[in-house]
Amino acid sequence: MKFAEPFRIKMIEPIRLIPKVEREKALVDAGYNPFALKGEDVYIDLLTDSGTGAMSDYQWAGLMQGDESYAGSRNYFNLAKSVEDIIGYPYTIPVHQGRGAEQVLFPLLIKKGQYVLGNMHFDTTKAHIELAGGRALNFVIKEAYDTTSYHPFKGNFDVEKMEAFIQEKGVDQIAFLLITITCNSAGGQPVSMENIRTVTALGAKYGLKVLFDAARFAENSFFIKQRESGYENKSIVEIVRETFQYGMAFTMSAKKDGLVNIGGLLCFKEDKDLFAQARSMTVPMEGFPTYGGLAGRDMEALARGLREGVDETYLAYRIRQVKYLGDRLAEGGVPIQTPVGGHAVFVDAKKFLPHIPAHQFPAHSLANELYLEAGVRSVEIGSFLLGRDPETGEQSESPMELLRLTIPRRTYTDNHMDVVADALIAIKERAHTLKGYTFEYEPPILRHFTARLKPVE
Ligand code: F0G
Repeated sequence: MKFAEPFRIKMIEPIRLIPKVEREKALVDAGYNPFALKGEDVYIDLLTDSGTGAMSDYQWAGLMQGDESYAGSRNYFNLAKSVEDIIGYPYTIPVHQGRGAEQVLFPLLIKKGQYVLGNMHFDTTKAHIELAGGRALNFVIKEAYDTTSYHPFKGNFDVEKMEAFIQEKGVDQIAFLLITITCNSAGGQPVSMENIRTVTALGAKYGLKVLFDAARFAENSFFIKQRESGYENKSIVEIVRETFQYGMAFTMSAKKDGLVNIGGLLCFKEDKDLFAQARSMTVPMEGFPTYGGLAGRDMEALARGLREGVDETYLAYRIRQVKYLGDRLAEGGVPIQTPVGGHAVFVDAKKFLPHIPAHQFPAHSLANELYLEAGVRSVEIGSFLLGRDPETGEQSESPMELLRLTIPRRTYTDNHMDVVADALIAIKERAHTLKGYTFEYEPPILRHFTARLKPVE
């Protein structure tokens, strides 16, 4: 039987493909940076899966039941109950989004100069580690950097390499270990339960805390169920609960698997002291700890979204749609990170545009061409995002030049995916004519978001 979406559409939002001449003008006005495009000038928006998904009728109904009490909102207790039921952690602090949790927690755990070891840190995570005086290092397995090789868990840690690093620097130099599930920067790639257990055992051996960056925890659990032996007959919630038992706390951007447009979480398994400290720090940074920067209604939407996000039928639909786009691209000869991850298809722009050097940002060139071709917005994850070496000022070269086609949850149909695939396949025929980019204006920090560029003639 053919697979169809496990929902029907009750409300629609019109979108429009503006004419090609208008797209050309919009891109010039945006300084050839899709971040500066107006949302209304975009036809299919694959910039991010963060906060861009559709809520269910049950979540929308929950908005009407928002209790906007400054302290002790009933929606806070509903949210804490969802976290406890699904994840198994009793201590919950809501925050406005993932980075809110990072800014509250990291200064409590990092001493100046210490390292935070991860599989691959997300960019705001790295920024908050550095703001807290720490240094962020990645220990993802080498297979993650080879887009053509198959590995079921490309988000895994190279545990031996990490242990050698701990021994070399000494335990005192390490603040904690951070497992990002799924590993966004490596292509939404999952981490296996076996690898999580090994990282935890390493943490126990050296007395190091293990934390999760849990933005896409449900998608990670779905991959474990599909790909890891011993888990095929377990429920998603069982896998989620086992996963989190191996850590002591997590930060979460709930704008992904929490199925909400805004929100985040900072939760603890049993460390009441750290929970108390984090609650205190939440007050000046996010808000009173029973709302943490969210309206009561937003907490209710999240309390419900967390439960919908671990529904297996939903997850099967979700992962299948991302794979559908990946399969169409692969069949059309477009090089992509394989296997396809949980939230996005990553096009290997180094292979797609071999004539454009890293410092002219091949994946960014492809993002602009995709917008011109079909009004599709995507995002570069490569040397443009990476930036310059802070000491020498030289442009760093990213190990991968990727174009991320990030799929919002429950938002677009397979027809939209076909438009994206057809456009990239069409661009492939004239790939050699695409040009690299150089800066017209390069801001000193986080340049990805506000830079203005121009094509290299
Ligand atoms: N951690 C991971 C793994 C993320 O992917 C993100 C956000 C964050 C933390 C920060 O959370 O945005 O709620 O403050 N990722 C988005 C993206 C922005 O497009 O991948 P936030």
